[in-house]
Amino acid sequence: MRLTAIVCLLTFYSFSGAAPTNMISELSAFARRISWTSWNQSNNTNFNPDVILNTLEMIRRAGYPAEAHVVTTEDGYLLTLHRIPGGNGSLPVLLQHGLLCTSADWVILGKGKALAYLLADQGYDVWLGNFRGNTYSRAHISLSPSESRFWDFSFNEMGIHDLPAMITFITNMRSQPLHTYIGHSMGTSSFYVMASERPEIARMVQMMISLAPVAFTNHMKSPVKYLVPFWRQLKVMLQYFFHDEFLPQNNFFRFFAKYGCDQNIVENEICADMIFMICGYDREQFNYTLLPVILNHDPAGASAKTLLHYVQGLQSGKFRQFDYGREKNLLMYNSSEPPNYDLANITVPIALFYGSGDRLVNIVDVKRLYRALPNVMDIYEVPWPKFNHVDFLWAKDAPKLVYERVFKLMKRKNLNNVTSMGLQRRSK
Ligand SMILES: *[C@@H]1O[C@H](CO)[C@@H](O)[C@H](O)[C@H]1NC(C)=O
Ligand SMILES: *[C@@H]1O[C@H](CO)[C@@H](O)[C@H](O)[C@H]1NC(C)=O
Ligand SMILES: *[C@@H]1O[C@H](CO)[C@@H](O)[C@H](O)[C@H]1NC(C)=O
Ligand SMILES: *[C@@H]1O[C@H](CO)[C@@H](O)[C@H](O)[C@H]1NC(C)=O
Ligand SMILES: *[C@@H]1O[C@H](CO)[C@@H](O)[C@H](O)[C@H]1NC(C)=O
Ligand SMILES: *[C@@H]1O[C@H](CO)[C@@H](O)[C@H](O)[C@H]1NC(C)=O
Ligand SMILES: *[C@@H]1O[C@H](CO)[C@@H](O)[C@H](O)[C@H]1NC(C)=O
Repeated sequence: MRLTAIVCLLTFYSFSGAAPTNMISELSAFARRISWTSWNQSNNTNFNPDVILNTLEMIRRAGYPAEAHVVTTEDGYLLTLHRIPGGNGSLPVLLQHGLLCTSADWVILGKGKALAYLLADQGYDVWLGNFRGNTYSRAHISLSPSESRFWDFSFNEMGIHDLPAMITFITNMRSQPLHTYIGHSMGTSSFYVMASERPEIARMVQMMISLAPVAFTNHMKSPVKYLVPFWRQLKVMLQYFFHDEFLPQNNFFRFFAKYGCDQNIVENEICADMIFMICGYDREQFNYTLLPVILNHDPAGASAKTLLHYVQGLQSGKFRQFDYGREKNLLMYNSSEPPNYDLANITVPIALFYGSGDRLVNIVDVKRLYRALPNVMDIYEVPWPKFNHVDFLWAKDAPKLVYERVFKLMKRKNLNNVTSMGLQRRSK
């Protein structure tokens, strides 16, 4: 019964984004009191320590060296870059997470399987970024996360300010270009923004790999799309209750991770079903053992404006700047409609990986992106029919189904010669 209550609350909380703040903080405090004490002493032999570790600690526990660097964006946000340093002469790679995620998502699968570790094993210098607003990047030189102004950004600002700050930091430190940028979901949207709006930064990147690319979204199948008609109300609620923040990481979810999803199979199924409902159903690839770890790290906070920017894309069918309404658009853009991102200007070679079971990224939208980008070196449908949005990070067979092809692409010398790799370029 306790579980049922929590599921209802969580569902309400995550789908409406409107649970009263008092209730949440009370539940959080309650969770904090119970979980940290009983959890640690529960003598649970199945207990995975990653549930209570942060990215840096998880990496060290897996036996790798780990560093954290703080970079400041042009508009004052302080971002944490995690790193598994490579040796001298190693090639730098930047992995960039998606909406509500963090650098931790690249290591959750564990040693021998997670993308960050496999890249480190192959001698790359692995950097894991954290966008403004998530657990590791909730800081600004003058604004506080409790102020609305802190949350006045979308994936547009992540592309225009966050990625340039991180990429410039890495390339300056290593005195060489970024060998590969690997993005998942919002980590791809923001890259396309950066590459079209700030071509001087994009020139520092030799290759980009898009896992579950998100640019055009109007064919999305996820129930998230049913939020579209309510977005104006949603916006007001988010402003009122959360100071414009959406789904921050807190002990409410950690409590849930422990007491909702750690107990038995039936409860695990309910928790996983909520992920499947949004992202696509793929029970075979989901490792239920990892669920407590996943729920402890995600959702990790985002701005309401980011969500609204995506909702606008769903409505307009366009990949373009934030729509402030006619009058403010005229002031901001000198046009009543927001300008499109100029995908045709992106010269970086890009690979597009998508899953046919992904409810958030539809094949039709990926094909349209493929036609819009001038330099696509590979387009790849993961050969698993149910492969969903989060499988790129957490699937049992992600190394075999996805990462092996990523490594193959990264080792290519001639980026424009698709046939030299045995890859087929599809007709546009
Ligand atoms: C868990 O217990 C160990 C010792 O048994 C202690 O060192 C550690 O700090 C505890 N962790 C937490 C989160 O309380
Ligand atoms: C855990 O195990 C220790 C030693 O076996 C025992 O003293 C302790 O009471 C156990 N704790 C719980 C919560 O069962
Ligand atoms: C890397 O190079 C620096 C200076 O060039 C040197 O001090 C260091 O020992 C080298 N490290 C390795 C692992 O080769
Ligand atoms: C994109 O390319 C066009 C044509 O070359 C150019 O006029 C435009 O300024 C470019 N846009 C950006 C954002 O660089
Ligand atoms: C605004 O747009 C109009 C018409 O498109 C153009 O004539 C004008 O020069 C633009 N103004 C600025 C400041 O760019
Ligand atoms: C599931 O995750 C656990 C914990 O990391 C791991 O020990 C196990 O091998 C994983 N199972 C599969 C099939 O990948
Ligand atoms: C591409 O690679 C194939 C196989 O290695 C080679 O035969 C072909 O000449 C190359 N094409 C170009 C344009 O370099």
